[in-house]
Amino acid sequence: MAGEAGAGVKKAMQIVVALGEIYGAANLVPIDSAQVSGVSYKNLGEAGLELLNQWAAQGARTRRPAFLNPAGMDLVAWQELGFPVEFARRQQAVVEAYADLGVERTCTCTPYLCGNAPEYRQHLAWAESSAVSYANSVLGARTNREGGPSALAAAITGRTARYGLHLDENRLATTLVEVRCPLTSKADWGVLGLLVGQKLRQGVPFFRFAYFRPELPSARRSRTTDGSKLEDRLKALGAAMAASGAVAMFHVEGITPEETESPLYGLPKMKVESLDEGYTALDGTADKIDIVSLGCPHASLAELANVASMLEGRRLTSALWITTARATREAATHAGLVAQIEAAGGRVVADTCMVVAPVAELGFRSLATDSAKMAFYAPSHCGLAVRFGTTEQCVQAAIEGAWSS
Ligand code: F3S
Repeated sequence: MAGEAGAGVKKAMQIVVALGEIYGAANLVPIDSAQVSGVSYKNLGEAGLELLNQWAAQGARTRRPAFLNPAGMDLVAWQELGFPVEFARRQQAVVEAYADLGVERTCTCTPYLCGNAPEYRQHLAWAESSAVSYANSVLGARTNREGGPSALAAAITGRTARYGLHLDENRLATTLVEVRCPLTSKADWGVLGLLVGQKLRQGVPFFRFAYFRPELPSARRSRTTDGSKLEDRLKALGAAMAASGAVAMFHVEGITPEETESPLYGLPKMKVESLDEGYTALDGTADKIDIVSLGCPHASLAELANVASMLEGRRLTSALWITTARATREAATHAGLVAQIEAAGGRVVADTCMVVAPVAELGFRSLATDSAKMAFYAPSHCGLAVRFGTTEQCVQAAIEGAWSS
């Protein structure tokens, strides 16, 4: 911070230390990796791009592995997908500015699915809320929900302030959530996350399910009607909870790595008897569907395989984009899944998501999704009319070009 490593590092250390002082951190902790948000040119704009270029010119470089959140477009197929040329030019400039700072060009909200999964108890500085939730809850790594600049500052200094979810005591359950209704699809898990996030706002929920027996091996296999894997359901749960509230960590009885460390005696209780309220809040009234958006958070290989099998022998009427990480797309290409999806008229779109893409300029007005997080954000962030339902309902909507309730 005295400046001997250059003005760029000094600025980064000032950000890390300022946050530590605000949150009362006793010291700093070395990080294993950083995940940086603020990548889409739609959100960052010219001022943000200038800031990145200045920081790079001051000699700042990452000293820990760092990767990016989704950008505003597919960095390779943007032209054929209809992204405007000027937007593409500025978006490429943003990614290059990050690359100059040493950040990998990997643009995804699921870095843990494509070679960047942290280990148990590793400290991170990740920014994307769904990835933060998954890393803390399902993988047992430790990260607060960083802002874009603070995640970048942590990557440049190799450290973050030790507060919040870096500390054992803040990772214990604060509320026991008893789920008394069955969850039959990944969409149901997302709606549960939406409801709990809305009611709890913050804290660490501990989920206990009346109809889900985690001690049985079958709980880990595909049992829901949409064929989703448990990991993908947990991904949907955490993403929605972090969208409707500021919940960055949860426990699931018998499943998540730190659940046994949480004393439950005397915790306040919340009961969830029905998901209806959540479905009513997320599902709109549009009949005609311009685009079906799956892959929020970015699709896993298993989710791509699931959709590919639903599309076999079908032909789509409306656009269907499944957003995913580029590395997952490459794996899906090798597995023949991209060809299967494209044969029906769908697209496997890498590097971006509908919330941070310039959707209005692409001409879409209505969207169907199986993601509670996407359904929560799309009306306000993209001005889209939204229908929300299971993966099967969404695929059916893409086939018919309309939503059938
Ligand atoms: Fe990822 Fe975008 Fe959803 S960043 S979690 S696909 S809103």
